[in-house]
Amino acid sequence: MNILDDLEKIKELDSEDMLGIEENFYNQLLEAKKIAEKVNVGSIESTAFSGVAILGMGGSGFTGDIIRNLTKDDISVPIEVVKSYDLPGFVNSSWLVVPVSYSGNTEETLSAVQQALSRGCNLLCVTSGGELEKIAEDNGSCIVKVPSGYQPRGAAGYLFFSTILVLKFLKIISLPDSDIEEALELIKEKCTQYRREVKTQKNYAKIIAAAIGDSFPVIYGTEGILSSVAFRWKCEINENSKTPCFWAEFPELNHNETVGWERLKGITSRFVLIVLVDKQEQERIKVRIRTTIKLIRDNFAKIIEIPVEGKSKLAKALSTMYTGDIVSVYLALLNEINPTPVKKIEILKAELAKLNEK
Ligand code: PA5
Repeated sequence: MNILDDLEKIKELDSEDMLGIEENFYNQLLEAKKIAEKVNVGSIESTAFSGVAILGMGGSGFTGDIIRNLTKDDISVPIEVVKSYDLPGFVNSSWLVVPVSYSGNTEETLSAVQQALSRGCNLLCVTSGGELEKIAEDNGSCIVKVPSGYQPRGAAGYLFFSTILVLKFLKIISLPDSDIEEALELIKEKCTQYRREVKTQKNYAKIIAAAIGDSFPVIYGTEGILSSVAFRWKCEINENSKTPCFWAEFPELNHNETVGWERLKGITSRFVLIVLVDKQEQERIKVRIRTTIKLIRDNFAKIIEIPVEGKSKLAKALSTMYTGDIVSVYLALLNEINPTPVKKIEILKAELAKLNEK
């Protein structure tokens, strides 16, 4: 029997139930909505901010990436995404700083938070606890408290959806209710279609995982929401499937990477190219995608086009991200890997923690 249809084997491999967390993604989004509705934004409600800096690393960092790309066409103030220890010099007391850290203990994020506090910025802290929760309490900052007990990447719905909704309630961004409803409906459908009980033949997520198999995936998106989503696919394949993966975005990749596929065919013939394709994309980008595929087709074992579904940007982003998340879990299981542990990240964090003891 195909391992992806062997429910007993899946249970045995996935001892911390990452697949169950993914299958429950729709409910996670509904809960995130409730969490957002209850956040006390009193202290910052009527402040006119001149910019928003969203901080966060890894699984928590996705929140900033996707919010910036979802809102960049309509927002009247800049959104800056910070993925390191330092805030840019232009972030001053008129900015809202949004640290997102699932554990609340990520050192890069905490360092930038200290800088934000010393510059007099208001904070909107998004976390399940840890040091970040303490900082928020000590400083009387707004806090979006999400449930603990998940891997940060498995809590993307809590982190991302509650953050974007609070920013909407604060009127910093505009997000039509109809987009939220559309996104939720589409995710509800996908959760049903991708469930483990749906056999491989009819389960698109299992089909894509099987098509990747033991080849080396490369993910292409398009600048904007699909670049954040392509990066998310790459990270999920790294962390859940324990597989190396590259990613790049159109149109930039046409100015460098496209040429790079000319050599090392002996190696790249085991690569699979996955292209996230939005039919509503502007014509010039469509031509770029078509032409690029023609130019580099022979250098890959196969090329898979993932059709982007939905009308609104939110529905497109969330549904395409969700497909990648669950594909990465099925890819892990197909290769008999437990998707949950991320030992190397833990080792690195423990090594850095030793510096604090000195
Ligand atoms: O998925 C992971 O475990 C990591 O990418 C973490 O998200 C990252 O190390 C940051 O930790 P946190 O999300 O707790 O801030």
